[in-house]
Amino acid sequence: MTDFLKGYDVQYWLESAPQGYLMDTEYGHGEGEKEPAVVLESDELREQAIATTVQMVVGERCALAASSGLINAAPDEASKRYLATQTLDEARHVEVFVHRLYDLGIRPADLESTIRQFANPHLVRFAEVLLEAVDKKDFVAGVVGQNVVLEGMAFHVFEMMHAANQTANPKFAHTLSGTIADERRHVGFGENRIGSLIREHPDRKADVERLQRDMSYHMLATFGSQFQQGPSPAEVDRIIRESGREPVRSEAEWQGVRLADSDPEELEAALSDTILKEFKLRLERIGIEYQTPVRP
Ligand SMILES: [Fe+2]
Ligand SMILES: [Fe+2]
Repeated sequence: MTDFLKGYDVQYWLESAPQGYLMDTEYGHGEGEKEPAVVLESDELREQAIATTVQMVVGERCALAASSGLINAAPDEASKRYLATQTLDEARHVEVFVHRLYDLGIRPADLESTIRQFANPHLVRFAEVLLEAVDKKDFVAGVVGQNVVLEGMAFHVFEMMHAANQTANPKFAHTLSGTIADERRHVGFGENRIGSLIREHPDRKADVERLQRDMSYHMLATFGSQFQQGPSPAEVDRIIRESGREPVRSEAEWQGVRLADSDPEELEAALSDTILKEFKLRLERIGIEYQTPVRP
């Protein structure tokens, strides 16, 4: 067997994740950790947290459907076993973010209607494009769509959110750090497995590049509209002051941007820049040329 699966077998997964960085977590965070009181008390902050978390549930549900669907499309057994571990990771991600919605006061009976209300239409479309490839049992397109485009981009979004929440919301930051560690493994698999497949099937290059272009458009459009939602960092500070508390000054910097002082446009630009820069490198490594998305 090729050695691309070094570090991607079930034994490695058991030792590094459930018996490693996920030990002693409860729905992804430390036992007894809670959402900050000010988030639960302020309608604006609570709604913003709900809207953000809904996008994460939508993205993770898509990843759960894609990774489980790809098991039967995989051409070799080692990939199937790896994808089984990823399926459980994604199920866990769906669960921890659904639990965050409950912690933010959503009743289980209202979960689906809340998701429908807040789900970004671009993200919904993104998921549809990916799952069409998975339904056709197109392994190459499915892995590029999931492990390169979806997870390559989500990885950076999670990292930025992690930096922004480390002091403001340690519970959420802890949930994110386990998720980031899992996602790192998922994008690693995508690069390792797809690079060799593209070399074996050069005829697939053109349609994989087209898929990348369509999916990237919906992903970047999702960031664009999500950053316009809810209070800006300055307004968040005002809400916290009005509640009689002192805002926790986050010194967090992410890609050279001071998160606490940035307006939504700056954050969006930083995110799109990093994502695209990293993303182009990732595609290059698997032999795919980045296609600039056009408005479909
Ligand atoms: Fe995930
Ligand atoms: Fe993932």
